[in-house]
Amino acid sequence: MSGDIWHYPRLALAKQVLGMFESGLSTALVFFAPRRMGKTEFLLKDMRPLATRQHWHTLYFSFLDTTSNTKEAFTLALLEFAVESGITKWGKFQSRIKKISAGAVGIQAGVEFRDPQQAKITLKEVMTLLAKNKHKTLLLLDEVQVLSQDNDNRDFVAALRTMLDVNKDCIKVIFTGSSREGLRRMFSKSNAPFFHFGQNLPFPELEEDFVSHLADVFQQATGRKINAKQLWQVFGDMGKVPQLIRSLVERMVLHPNLSLQQARQQLMQDITEDREYALTWESCSILERLAIKAIVLDETELFSEEKRNQLALFMGIETLPVSTIQSAIRTLQRKSIIGSLPERGAYYIDDPNFKRWIEQAVIEEH
Ligand SMILES: Nc1ncnc2c1ncn2[C@@H]1O[C@H](COP(=O)(O)OP(=O)(O)OP(=O)(O)O)[C@@H](O)[C@H]1O
Ligand SMILES: [Mg+2]
Repeated sequence: MSGDIWHYPRLALAKQVLGMFESGLSTALVFFAPRRMGKTEFLLKDMRPLATRQHWHTLYFSFLDTTSNTKEAFTLALLEFAVESGITKWGKFQSRIKKISAGAVGIQAGVEFRDPQQAKITLKEVMTLLAKNKHKTLLLLDEVQVLSQDNDNRDFVAALRTMLDVNKDCIKVIFTGSSREGLRRMFSKSNAPFFHFGQNLPFPELEEDFVSHLADVFQQATGRKINAKQLWQVFGDMGKVPQLIRSLVERMVLHPNLSLQQARQQLMQDITEDREYALTWESCSILERLAIKAIVLDETELFSEEKRNQLALFMGIETLPVSTIQSAIRTLQRKSIIGSLPERGAYYIDDPNFKRWIEQAVIEEH
């Protein structure tokens, strides 16, 4: 139990995944879903507890939390995990590490390796220790697309891939990420570091029983009723994003006089006023903005002469070469604002809430 009454347990999915590992059918899975669809919640509140109950040693690590020096941060987390699991002793590695704040509980805080080479050796050693252990190890690696954003991580990614490959019978891994583009760079392009390493699984959407669960908990918590059918309808309208429906229900808990429709309107209003989206938008060049708008409006013929003439007119310039649009598109991809679909020329907005923001704050306003 996670202790979070609002959490809707996804035990069947967790069992299915663990079953695939236990039977030896899979060694690595890649879960893709857009932002805020419940990946992290599933890893932490369903996958980890189940695996632990079944005697797996389980480590959750999010690459989003590490700013620089990903390899060191991950290796330290792995070492700390091995120590906590009783697989090795901290003292054995102490000489390789400096700046240990006295009495610190987590060794990751304020600690670093004496030199990068030692991080590499330690990664290998700890992985080998984990693989030799009688308990199997499950690594839950969240936001892995971050690794593809920085060339400095290449070395680390290669080392990680090798270690996972060598120890795949005993160390299983779930990768998740929200950027389709970032994951494609890691797993699907033929020159990608993890090309064909993990099996891609779409992350299933939450269904009606999730919404009924929220309605039940709402009633328990407040003594008031919420119409589960209407809630389900709203959930669908909002793109089945669990985070949004939960914010909506929480809002109704706090404001007893709010109707479902009013709460929904307020929530949409909040997205429109979100500063983060406005900043992202402001950071884009005029051409990037026009490209984003065209993608939101599903105008996929971005490179056609007609579209280029139209854009040029808009920008008050004579002509707009294909290469200029291509370069704007590449910038947007690099910033993970847009991604591309395998069909040539089809693009999409990576964050569905940003897409909604553009629809409301940019397109409807004009
Ligand atoms: N099983 C669930 N039961 C109840 N609420 C959920 C569940 N899954 C997700 N949520 C709600 O959705 C929110 C977003 O989920 P989560 O952070 O796991 O998404 P994510 O896919 O990891 O998003 P991101 O890509 O932005 O990290 C949670 O904070 C929670 O409010
Ligand atoms: Mg997450």
